[in-house]
Amino acid sequence: MRIYEAKDYNDLSRKAANIISAQIIMKPDAVLGLATGSTPIGTYKQLIEWYEKGDLDFKEIKTINLDEYKGIGPENEQSYYHFMRTNLFDHINIDLANTNIPNGLEEDIEKECARYDDIINQSGGIDLQLLGIGCNGHIGFNEPGISFDKSTHCVKLADNTIQANARFFESIEDVPKYAYSMGIKNIMQAKSILLVASGENKAKALYEALYGPITPAVPASVLQLHNNVSIVADEEALSIVKSEKESLL
Ligand code: PGA
Repeated sequence: MRIYEAKDYNDLSRKAANIISAQIIMKPDAVLGLATGSTPIGTYKQLIEWYEKGDLDFKEIKTINLDEYKGIGPENEQSYYHFMRTNLFDHINIDLANTNIPNGLEEDIEKECARYDDIINQSGGIDLQLLGIGCNGHIGFNEPGISFDKSTHCVKLADNTIQANARFFESIEDVPKYAYSMGIKNIMQAKSILLVASGENKAKALYEALYGPITPAVPASVLQLHNNVSIVADEEALSIVKSEKESLL
C-alpha cells in the first residue's frame, strides 16, 4: 500500500488525477471504476483540464461506477448518473455507451445486481478503481457490518450515511434509503485501487482502515488485503495516522 500525502485538496486532486492519467496513457482502453461524492470532484476537474489541453483521450475508456441510489432515475439531479454527467462525462470525449452505472429505477433487485455483475465480469476486470471513504469507513455503499464476499447488492443506507448525504437534498426525508452498490468482492477484484480522502472528519476512518483490524465493522479495512492500493489523502485526513506514527517513534 502506498500513501501519498497531499498538502491540500487541490494537491490531492492533482495527485489522484495523475495516477488516473497514468492508467489512461498506459492503457487507452482501460476500464475505470469510478466514484461519486465530494472528494473526487477536484480529481475529475483536473482530468477535464488535461483532456482540454489535449493530454488525455477517453475515446476508448470504459467506466463502471460504484453505486446508485435506488428509486431515483437518471434525470433526477441527485442521481449519481447526473453527477457523473455534470462532473465528468459531459466534458470529455467518452462514449456514453461505454459508461455504466446501476439502474436506480430497476425494481427487480436480483435482476439488476446480476446485470451489473455481468458488466463487471465481462469487462475483463476493472484496471483502476477510484474510491472515497465514508466517515464510518464505508467504500461504495458497503456499510459497516457488510460481508466481504458480497458482489453487487442492494443496501439499506446507514443512518450516518443518510445524514452525511442530506446536504445534497432539500431535506433529510428526500435522501433515498436504499442503493445499489458494487460489493467488496467486486472492489477487491479490481487490478488496482486508488482511495482519496480529504478532511479531518475522515481521519479516524482512514486510520482504522489502514492500521486497524481487518473487519467488516470498517469495510475499507479490507483494502489491507489488496496488493495494489494507493491512498491519496490530505494532511487533515492523515492527521491521526501521522500522530499515531509519531507516538511510536
Ligand atoms: P465524500 O464521500 O467524498 O462526499 O466525503 C465519500 C464516501 O462517502 O464514500
